[in-house]
Amino acid sequence: MTIISVKTERKSTTLTMKGSYLSLAVLLGLGGCGEAQQAAPTNTVTPQAATVETSAKNTIDLWPALTPAIAKDAELEAKITALVSKMTVEQKVAQMIQPEIRDITVEDMRKYGFGSYLNGGGAYPNNDKHATPADWIALAESLYQASIDDSVDGINIPTMWGTDAVHGHNNVIGATLFPHNIGLGAANNPKLIEQIAAITAKEVMVTGIDWVFAPTVAVVRDDRWGRSYEGYSEDPAIVRDYSFAIVEGLQGAVSGDFLSDQRVLSTVKHFLGDGGTEKGIDQGDNIATEKMLVDVHAQGYVGGLNAGAQSVMASFNSWHGEKNHGNKYLLTDVLKDRMGFDGFVVGDWNGHGQIPGCSNESCAQAANAGLDIFMVPTAAWKPLFENTVAQVNSGEISQARLDDAVSRILRVKLRAGLFEKPSPAKRPLSGKTELIGQASHREVARQAVRESLVLLKNNQNVLPLSPKLSVLVAGDAADNIGKQSGGWTITWQGTDNKNADFPGATSIYSGIEQVVSQAGGQAMLSVNGEFTEQQKPDVAIVVFGEEPYAEGNGDIDNLEYQRGDKRDLALLKQLKAQGIPVVSVFISGRPMWVNAEFNASDAFVAAWLPGSEGQGIADVLFTDADGKVKHDFGGKLSFSWPATPQQTTVNVPLATESAEVKAQYQPLIPFGYGLTYQSKVSDAVVLDNLSEDNLAAEQTLVDLPLFERAVKSPWSMYIANSAERQGLSSSVAQNSALTIRTMDRVVQEDARLVSFNGSEQGVVGLISNFPRDFRAYSNSDSALTLSIKTTASLQKPLWLGMACEGDCRKQVDIAQQVNGKLGEWQNISVSLACFASEPMDFGKITMPFYLATSDKVDVSFSDVVIHTQPGESTVQCKK
Ligand code: BGC
Ligand code: BGC
Repeated sequence: MTIISVKTERKSTTLTMKGSYLSLAVLLGLGGCGEAQQAAPTNTVTPQAATVETSAKNTIDLWPALTPAIAKDAELEAKITALVSKMTVEQKVAQMIQPEIRDITVEDMRKYGFGSYLNGGGAYPNNDKHATPADWIALAESLYQASIDDSVDGINIPTMWGTDAVHGHNNVIGATLFPHNIGLGAANNPKLIEQIAAITAKEVMVTGIDWVFAPTVAVVRDDRWGRSYEGYSEDPAIVRDYSFAIVEGLQGAVSGDFLSDQRVLSTVKHFLGDGGTEKGIDQGDNIATEKMLVDVHAQGYVGGLNAGAQSVMASFNSWHGEKNHGNKYLLTDVLKDRMGFDGFVVGDWNGHGQIPGCSNESCAQAANAGLDIFMVPTAAWKPLFENTVAQVNSGEISQARLDDAVSRILRVKLRAGLFEKPSPAKRPLSGKTELIGQASHREVARQAVRESLVLLKNNQNVLPLSPKLSVLVAGDAADNIGKQSGGWTITWQGTDNKNADFPGATSIYSGIEQVVSQAGGQAMLSVNGEFTEQQKPDVAIVVFGEEPYAEGNGDIDNLEYQRGDKRDLALLKQLKAQGIPVVSVFISGRPMWVNAEFNASDAFVAAWLPGSEGQGIADVLFTDADGKVKHDFGGKLSFSWPATPQQTTVNVPLATESAEVKAQYQPLIPFGYGLTYQSKVSDAVVLDNLSEDNLAAEQTLVDLPLFERAVKSPWSMYIANSAERQGLSSSVAQNSALTIRTMDRVVQEDARLVSFNGSEQGVVGLISNFPRDFRAYSNSDSALTLSIKTTASLQKPLWLGMACEGDCRKQVDIAQQVNGKLGEWQNISVSLACFASEPMDFGKITMPFYLATSDKVDVSFSDVVIHTQPGESTVQCKK
């Protein structure tokens, strides 16, 4: 394991894929030795990475032998045995199947009696983003009642509902949203963390839900990873202590009110090594030695299991090329046998389907490796159920393994008192809507915001500020609660939300405004930093940073902030040039290379992703009206800050590491750093005149992904009919011409399915109000490419188009090409020259892609990219 800055280039997938960009087998084959794969495709056989030196693996003695937090209870075990002995194979397998609310009905539950179910990120009852707690409870109640109804399946074991309440009950409108884990790590306060978890449990229980998929205990090694912010720290010790605290906060202490009616089940995730994949690629390959796996990545499980965690989620990633979901050594030998875990292992979102030889619909390997519950969203649950039953009947999965899995699930249900608890609607906290976003909960979140802030720069003690000043508040994160909350916020990606979606929350600006106006000062919100001569402020607070993202959509090539688009830097400079002191508040899911932004700021605060309580920022930036500090900064970096964009794996060395490794640790700002109002100038790392050269900056034109896994910044997806255009605010949307829904092609939500109904022309496309300059692409024979699939032959045109500012546009009919291959995914590639006729202005593209038709047809599409070197099948046009 290297701790030094790694200079390897990470090529974007599109680059690697050049020419034959859908030939995944070729792509993966190209990967070579130890090369991590970008999310192995479902249903495709993934070649194993190079053989591993066996000496590096499978040394069980390296692992901690833990004593189970809960001693075996003979009476409870007898109950389990009695129950299991009465169950049929079908009833047992149903306990192992966890479908998703968008893909089952109450009648499915009655018929099958699933052991559990989930709602994915951004999935709500009735597909309604604004579902009320009563709607959540109604769904929980009806599924629960169907589960204990034995009239069809002959069994009455209560089901349970799992959800991703990962920074508060984040799928529910109005819930308290805590800072994401990276910010909590900077606070380094396990007591506070426990309180946060206890509050989260309460808000979850108001909606009738039993179980939370948290904490994430990834120990993040490469900050390019899109899930960096879900990790508390790069330091395993913080993660271990926090894991204990969170699990205890969610479930209650083993010696206290464990799984009482105020508590929920917790899942420690993702086992194992999710934070250590090569190049920070989500769902990629971790090639750490077994010793590092134990010393770094396993520590969160030590904390979590010691606190009595009842479930562990298997990770999407591989270890030395072998997918964890199918790794018996890790799931069974290490976790269950050596570490004494007697709860159940739940899979991740169709993660079993990524094991070579498996599909979402069939995977005996995972069960045999030790997976107890298949998380199987999409319609795959039914064939998976049937195939698993068949595999038990044929002996491919042994009866003993089946019984072990079911016993583990029942053990947890019995410990949680599920058999005696009233139904979801009748539980003590159900429907107590006053608890959702309650003031006392928000107070704790606000405290967490204060404690998570890390002061990195404070020249001439610009901070703290007097609230009597005239303060300009600028930047596009200043009054944007969605942006300050990051991913996993109402929607999965945290995008497509408005301030109105956060009743009871405060933006950072509104927090500042309150403090300043009360003290007789003046606060002006001006996103672009402009003001009139009479309004010249005493100081500017600029709030800017990363757009929200979740999981692999947040993976990046290097850590440079706003590469190729220094909009925020320009804003800082514009203010500074007018002699206004500039305080930067940086919103981000990871440390980033912001040398230029440091240089242009007088003070700089890393605020991470603070969540719903924006006032916590003003609490610390401002004194009271008498000039007394109300709250000092306490946050300390739990991630080292990089000195270059390429220094992506700069991690504080472990005590046990060699002197050489320790000497190589040279971040820009070290782990544990954070100024306070007491700090002396001599304590501070100087963040002036830093090098602004991104030495490895790309000089050549590279492929430009527009929609690849996720919609890329600055674009957003819209739908339109003849009357109006609308942005999308959840995973399903419709207008009078079409319905659009997200679908999983290779990884989650990487494609869209559009059902055009034929009543009028419908349009789906990408749009931005910041026009972008595509001239370099149009001058270089690049092409607009996408993957597309239709099920029926088109009788009318299917337009592929682009538009520029002022609504100029140009479209070409691709119906003929598409009709060539019905029912299959195919690539369509159209040279930009085909969009070139007047009045197209490639200098000001506002819609780089749309599809339109008035036919009645289902169209799925993914991977919309401007390719610099399109393949031979590209449709060419004369210039
Ligand atoms: C994520 C998990 C999450 C699960 C269920 C997956 O995509 O990796 O962290 O718990 O979805 O929503
Ligand atoms: C999405 C999934 C994602 C999940 C995480 C869902 O809403 O459809 O693709 O993995 O959220 O919970």
